[in-house]
Amino acid sequence: MNKLQKFADNLTFPNLFQYPFLHREDCPMRGKWNSDYFKNDLPVVVEIGCGKGEYTTVLSEKYPDKNFIGIDIKGARLWKGAKYACEHNLKRVAFIRARADFIEKIFDRDEVSEIWITFPDPQHAKERKRLTSPMFLERYRRILATGSNAGHSGRIHLKTDDTILYLYTLDDIVLGGGLPLFTCSDNVYSDSLPELEDVRSVQTFYEQMWLRMGKKIKYICFGLKLE
Ligand SMILES: C[S@@+](CC[C@H](N)C(=O)[O-])C[C@H]1O[C@@H](n2cnc3c(N)ncnc32)[C@H](O)[C@@H]1O
Repeated sequence: MNKLQKFADNLTFPNLFQYPFLHREDCPMRGKWNSDYFKNDLPVVVEIGCGKGEYTTVLSEKYPDKNFIGIDIKGARLWKGAKYACEHNLKRVAFIRARADFIEKIFDRDEVSEIWITFPDPQHAKERKRLTSPMFLERYRRILATGSNAGHSGRIHLKTDDTILYLYTLDDIVLGGGLPLFTCSDNVYSDSLPELEDVRSVQTFYEQMWLRMGKKIKYICFGLKLE
């Protein structure tokens, strides 16, 4: 199926929201995802740069006590996840076509409980575009609710094949910034830590490509300090 057919399908999916112009205005659903869309009070887990939405859909089937929202700028990739969620009647799933740069216009303060960042473009040349740069973390801090321990936010999960992004996030951002580090692994498939179960049990489209090329998959779970 070509891109134009997918874009036409996307307009018909009730679980897909498209906000290309958020630099000008707030998302109309901001602060209302639970009341107006999910119609429940469950914690909202967001996958940023979700591509075809593997984490969003698989985790929603595994965790009936959470809502899941995948965000990406590419409509043709979101089509796959949105279609799967419609066909499998996944009521606690939504997808948003928007730039994560405007995430504060999509979610209100404390509206998000957890963030997954799955195989982001590492952006070696442009730190400000990296999804774990200080500028992005400041945006996340404004939308993340308090985590299980007071004083820090809900968890942020980074899964990547890229060693430079992994070390940048671990050393410069988390350890260098004094942020709470919950788990890290430089090779999730050779580590037997039980907390890596979700990390090992879902393989995204890009992850499968990197695994075929023999790359090691890395993971960091950390929090942010809340004001
Ligand atoms: C390497 S792909 C990974 C996709 C998917 N998570 C996977 O593992 O298969 C990176 C994804 O991030 C999306 N992306 C990059 N920058 C973004 C941004 N600022 N906001 C939203 N999505 C972004 C791209 O469109 C792309 O789908």
